[in-house]
Amino acid sequence: MKLWGGRFQRDTEKTVDDFQSSLPFDKRLYRQDIRASLAHAAMLGKQGIISDDEMKAILNGLAEILLNFEKGAIDAAGDAEDIHMLVEELLTERIGEAGKKLHTGRSRNDQVALDMRLYAMKTCDETADKLKALCETLLSLAQKHAGDIMPGYTHLQRAQPITLGHWFLCWFEMHLRDLERVRHAKDAADNMPLGAGALAGTTYSLDRDFVRVGLKMSALCRNSLDAVSDRDFLLDYLHAASVGMMHLSRLCEELVLWNTTEFGFITLDDRYATGSSMMPQKKNPDVAELIRGKTGRVYGDLMALMTVMKGLPLAYGKDMQEDKESFFDARDTYTACLDIIRPLLETGTFHTDIMHKGALNGFTNATDLADYLVGKGTPFRDAHAISGQVVAYCLGKGCALHDLSLKEFRRFANVTDEDVYEAIALENCINRRKVLGGPATGNVLKEVELGKVRLRAY
Ligand code: ARG
Repeated sequence: MKLWGGRFQRDTEKTVDDFQSSLPFDKRLYRQDIRASLAHAAMLGKQGIISDDEMKAILNGLAEILLNFEKGAIDAAGDAEDIHMLVEELLTERIGEAGKKLHTGRSRNDQVALDMRLYAMKTCDETADKLKALCETLLSLAQKHAGDIMPGYTHLQRAQPITLGHWFLCWFEMHLRDLERVRHAKDAADNMPLGAGALAGTTYSLDRDFVRVGLKMSALCRNSLDAVSDRDFLLDYLHAASVGMMHLSRLCEELVLWNTTEFGFITLDDRYATGSSMMPQKKNPDVAELIRGKTGRVYGDLMALMTVMKGLPLAYGKDMQEDKESFFDARDTYTACLDIIRPLLETGTFHTDIMHKGALNGFTNATDLADYLVGKGTPFRDAHAISGQVVAYCLGKGCALHDLSLKEFRRFANVTDEDVYEAIALENCINRRKVLGGPATGNVLKEVELGKVRLRAY
């Protein structure tokens, strides 16, 4: 008979059992479920709601069950409805009558909310560690390439010179914010719901705070309806993961582009690239493409749970069981991507010579020429027009700005002097941009040091 079978005259159909079982996917909550039950049982004992002997039997029984789970000795493919039922059944099988007292003052509704909160907190810690490692990689690559000039783009057109180090720092900033979002998601999960019962609290004299402290959680859910009815803390993680994947996806898009023969900015290591079954010459950036592709899947997980939660009446509805696969999938996908992006970046060869040429031949210093003329007293609008005419002239000649003679420059602006060559030299263009946040090599190196300190706060 089912643990809830008292009021039923007939067994559920097998198809219903199969349809509603969450065990195939919620078995991964076994650690959280048992940890939470240990804290609950210890509290029941302390409050005298169950006897000391009963408490001890439950605690020992649960500890053994946990051990057996860890050893892989538990068959979680059985016909239990979910992980909570399975653990309770195993406990009663093992210790007899006392096992039936574990669920005193508790419902699966507050139990599953707690399990998911604990799981989400652990997930946030794991994700944060991976994000930290990625941020460290980005900082060390930024340091290594602080002086390597490359073209910066807008509209995918060469725009102004930056450094590869500056480019790495951009991704550092984005992923540091992702870290902050994940930390927020952990705070959101860090509220203890037990005591809410099914929806309306309980008549037992539970010590909710004792359970909270036992689980090392920060606060208590302060409304029993809310405690069992919301999954917004999971949505916070799903949102953080979606934004994080969006950043990874954009980074990967650049890698895919840079890996083309047309760009030639990067050569991926053979160990992190794949071949074609038909075209022998191919070396494809599949890892980067897959990360880009998996972003859609994580967005899907977020949208799935948003949609599950929309319009749900208070309090618990079985709909909420659908939180798990979305959450687990997003967690697995995001952390796998964070794991593989790091070696992908670390083993890639960045062709700084080709980048430099790209900056040199792309008129990325045309703004600096205009600024130079402004320095000589030309109004910016006129200087902009003149610099544009010089670019057009170079395009016709098939040369770069610095290839022009002073005489040629003077044909467009007679205020031009010998110092124009200094003004448009790429190193100088970069290093003049030492405004906070700018690409000057000194800036990048300073930001790398500061970045290490900022990272330490997490
Ligand atoms: N497996 C369920 C879930 O994940 C546990 C809660 C079931 N509660 C209930 N009243 N049927 O949501």
